[in-house]
Amino acid sequence: MKKYEEKKFAIPSLVGLSEKQIAEHLKLYAGYVKHVNLIAENVAELSLNEEKNAYLISELRRRFAFEFDGMRMHEYYFESFVGRKKEYDTSHALFFALKEQFGLFDNWLTHFKTVATSRGIGWAILAYDPQSGNLINHYLGDHELGHLAGLDIVIALDMWEHAYMVDYTPGEKKQYIEAFFSNLNWTLPEKRFRKTA
Ligand SMILES: [Fe+2]
Repeated sequence: MKKYEEKKFAIPSLVGLSEKQIAEHLKLYAGYVKHVNLIAENVAELSLNEEKNAYLISELRRRFAFEFDGMRMHEYYFESFVGRKKEYDTSHALFFALKEQFGLFDNWLTHFKTVATSRGIGWAILAYDPQSGNLINHYLGDHELGHLAGLDIVIALDMWEHAYMVDYTPGEKKQYIEAFFSNLNWTLPEKRFRKTA
């Protein structure tokens, strides 16, 4: 298996999210990349004696999903800030699709923010189902629990406390969600949607 490399993100100064917050969060991302590679190495080594190490290997495979999705979800998240903040394009297919499904773009946004305040650590996701054409707001537990098979992630908002605790208290979750949207470069979700729709 090829080794996974830590990606670098050119994140500008953000509104409502400090440099320290982003720097601390990026360190956690780096940890996921490191552990994806470590687990892969360990499994390969233990597999030399598969019978003896069967339990260890199966537990590590479960752990692999946590680390791998931890890595990948953070890449979706940090990419959202690259470049600079850009408002959504009202002539873009994503805008029309959200409007068509939710009545108003703002209805979608309100719903997404409500999903994001779900109790427990995880991720608020906007995903596109290419089979039905539906756009779905949903919530992942941890990084790997509750992915909807075959859907493409359009927006990923990290709702683990580590994503905002440098700048906000747990009671200020809603302010963090606002900060995310204040900095989102909509070019990215629009590009992801175009690729998949
Ligand atoms: Fe995170």
